[in-house]
Parts: sequence; C-alpha cells; structure tokens
Amino acid sequence: MKQFIATLCLSAAFAVPTMGQDATVTIHADKGVNKINKEIYGQFAEHLGTCIYGGLWVGPESNIPNTQGYRNDVLQALKDLKVPVLRWPGGCFADEYHWMDGIGPRSQRPKMQNNNWGGTIEDNSFGTHEFLNLCELLGCEPYISGNVGSGSVEELAKWVEYMTSDGNTPMAKLRRQNGREKSWNVKYLGVGNESWGCGGNMRPEYYADLFRRYSVYCRNYDGHNLYKIASGASDYDYDWTKVLMDRVGNRMNGISLHYYTVKGWNGSKTSATAFTNDEYYWTIGKSLQIEDVIKKHSAIMDEKDPQKKIGLLVDEWGTWWDEEPGTVRGHLYQQNTMRDAMVAALSLNVFQRHTDRIKMANIAQVVNVLQSMILTDTKGTGHMVLTPTYYVFQMYRDFQEATHLPLDVKTDSIFVEGGHMQNMVDAKIPAVSISAAKKADGGIVVSLANVSLDKAQEVKLSLEGSKVKTVNGKILTCKDITAYNDFDHPDRVKVEDFKNAKIRKDEVTVKLPAKSIVVINLK
Ligand code: AHR
Repeated sequence: MKQFIATLCLSAAFAVPTMGQDATVTIHADKGVNKINKEIYGQFAEHLGTCIYGGLWVGPESNIPNTQGYRNDVLQALKDLKVPVLRWPGGCFADEYHWMDGIGPRSQRPKMQNNNWGGTIEDNSFGTHEFLNLCELLGCEPYISGNVGSGSVEELAKWVEYMTSDGNTPMAKLRRQNGREKSWNVKYLGVGNESWGCGGNMRPEYYADLFRRYSVYCRNYDGHNLYKIASGASDYDYDWTKVLMDRVGNRMNGISLHYYTVKGWNGSKTSATAFTNDEYYWTIGKSLQIEDVIKKHSAIMDEKDPQKKIGLLVDEWGTWWDEEPGTVRGHLYQQNTMRDAMVAALSLNVFQRHTDRIKMANIAQVVNVLQSMILTDTKGTGHMVLTPTYYVFQMYRDFQEATHLPLDVKTDSIFVEGGHMQNMVDAKIPAVSISAAKKADGGIVVSLANVSLDKAQEVKLSLEGSKVKTVNGKILTCKDITAYNDFDHPDRVKVEDFKNAKIRKDEVTVKLPAKSIVVINLK
C-alpha cells in the first residue's frame, strides 16, 4: 500500500497539496441549523449468539446479580451511555420471530430453532414484556422490527395493538392478563428487515406493495403515533431506494440503510485483533465510504422529498470480522480494538454531518455480537468488559440533541490504495476527522480523531461567532492500534482526561497523539 501525506482542503472543491501542514479548523459557532438527533447514537439487540441471553438477560433466577432478570453490570453501563433507542428483535431473526411465542408465563412459552444464527434453540424467555420493560429501565425509545418475511399482516397489526392500545381491545386485554396494565411507549416500527435478503428475498417493487399493505393495518392507538420504517437498501443498492421513494414515498416516515465495514461477504472477514497497518488503513477507508453511500441515497431521496421529511436510518452499521477462535459458529462474537473505536468515531462524525437526513443509526450490536459496546463472560463468572467502542459512545454523549455546526477544515490526507476490501477504490482519507456542535447551554463540543498510526497532529481551532474561556476534554488512545480489553485486562484501552488543549486569544490549539480520539468541551 502506498501512502503519502498532502493537505486536503475539505471546504474547497479540489485538494490543495501543501506538504506536512497540520490541521486548521474554523468553527462557525453562529451558523448551526440542524439538531443532531440523539437516535444517531442508537443500539441494536438481536436474538443472536449471546446478545440477549447471557448479554442483556440472565433471568431472575441467575447467580449473576440482576434486576428482574437483566444483568446489573450491563444495565448500569448502558444507563451511563444514555442509550437513546434500542432496536429489537433483529435483524434476520425478526422475520422468523412470532411475538405471541414470547408472552405469558415463561415456562410455558414454546421453543423455536434460530435458523439464521447457528441453529441455537430459542426458548422465548425474553419477549415483548422483557424488551419493553428493559427500554423503560434504560429510559430509551424502543424500536420494534416487525416480521414481514414469514409473518402476516394480522400478526403485526395485533402486535402493535398489544403494545400500544389502552382501550378494551382484545390485544390490550391479553396484555393486561399478562401483567401489564398500561400500553408501552412505542414509536419506531420497522416493517421488515433486509427484505431483499434474509427478510424474504424480495424485489423492491414487491416489497413496496407489501409495505403499503402492512402499514395500513399498523394503527395509531390512543395517542401513539407510529414512525414507520421501510426496510431499505444494503450499502450500494441505490435502485432499492429509488423504487421505494417512487412507490411508497411519504407513506413511510423513514427508510433504513445497512452498511457494514467488512472485507467482503465470501471467505474470511479477517481477524478482529491481528491485522497489519495496511489492513488498518483499508478499514478506515472502507468505513469512510459510508459518507459517499449516504450522499448517493440522500440525493435519490431529495428528488422526491426535497424537504427531507423522510428519514434515512442507518439501522445497522459497524465492523464485521471473523468470529473469535473457539466461539460458536454463527454467533458473531468478535473482539474490539482501538481500530474499531476509530471506525466508530469516524462514522459518528459522518452521521453528525448528515443529520438533516440521518434520523437514526444503530450500531450492530449492543452486547457480544459484532462491534459491541460490551462483552460479557457467559460462562457464569459474571465478568463484563467495556470495549473501546463503548468509550467512543460515552465520549460522544454531549452531541445528543446539540446543534451541528458547519466547519472549514484543512488537514493532511492519507492515501489508501483500494483492493482488499469489497468495493474499495483508491482513496484519500483526511488524517484528522472533526465534528462540532453547540449544546443547549451554549457550550461547544468538538470531536477530533487522528487516524494516522505514526504522526501526531496539531490542530488549530478558531471560533467564529463565539468566545472561549475554558476547555476540558477526554482522550481515547493506546500504544498499539491492535489493543483491546478482555476479562484479564479490562483497562488496556480506556478514556483519560485530556490536557493538551490550550486557549490563546480566540484560538484553541489541540495536540492529538497518533491514533487518538479526543472530545473537548469549550465554554
Ligand atoms: O447484525 C447481523 C445481521 O446483519 C442482521 O441480522 C442482518 O440484518 C444483517 O445482515
């Protein structure tokens, strides 16, 4: 892989190659327009591997300390993260899930085989009540992913009634018999998942008609207003978005997009922890391609919806590596290094930039699956570890509902040769990724990620339309990009106070070590 550094002027239409200059940034603090939807920091929990069982849920009888069956340690870690929204029960699992199997006394619930994920036997002990009560404990919005692939209109319509009706309707009565008097607050409803693949292998024209049909019968009960989300495209499938915009249009409130940072779908996806510097840069290049993908889907949406009323929801994203050696095939249990943290920071910066169209994003997945926040030892030791990606989400909490600020950025760029990763072409990636927002209290929060593995960067930030008196921040970095946390070394990668931001007149100078992620708060 070749690599060279040149200065890239992001605000101009072309690159200005000036060698070896560090980054300069102008923050237009008085020009913010769009609020960053807190749902951009959303999570996803599927009945897959040990995400639910052993991850979120151990059951009330477990020796692992729990609250009504939810692991205390995981619950607390997720509360600290201020999770805004949690998507459930899948993923591919959603289109084989029959919700009625997951209500009533747990011991009497029927079992099923989880055909998508390793053939594991699912005992349905975590169902609608367990999920929606968890959302209440976390103070987050539930996002229900409905079964279109193998379910029926009647089944989904009744699920909506069960969750949201407060009247004397048959499903509300059944819910009360099962111990829940009041309806739950359910707003987000996905009408199918990956309907082009595991969710029914459909053509977009056929799915468009199904969406129209299903959505009619998913009623708004007693003051609940559903936000209906159509099953959208996989990364580069622009035709899917076009057909849905043409044929469904504003009957949907949002359309989803799935984009994984993955080497390809055939063969090895490569190790989560053993990778070369070249593989690291390819990964960064692939993860940043999401911006181009978002722009192209948004441009198609703009044709029919220039006012951006229909949301684009990246309801599955993140890194996808080979499963950890010795773990169950099909359970997608992977480790999480500083490289994953970098992908998370860069992706969140992209979503923040496109907050006018991106209404939600759900990283896959919350515990023990793919790019997770948390890894738990499911063998009964009760250990839990927070991943580097968790710390990125923790550092970004201040961005939730803040107003995105436009920037002019000049930064070095790194040349990454294509190949290796699916659909990767040669790319120039900015050495420093930056995003800024204004909080409700007037303070400004800035995220800065130095992608370079070997070069520290000095970033000069100047503010237009605001004064700075104080600065404080946090940093996530490590000696080795392959570093990760495990049960024996839970603190190898962790957040620390950041002392290298200095104010001089109205300029803030930030010294970023190589491979670091910094979030600063300016007042
Ligand atoms: O997140 C894992 C799987 O990836 C989901 O179940 C599916 O929607 C996607 O293909």
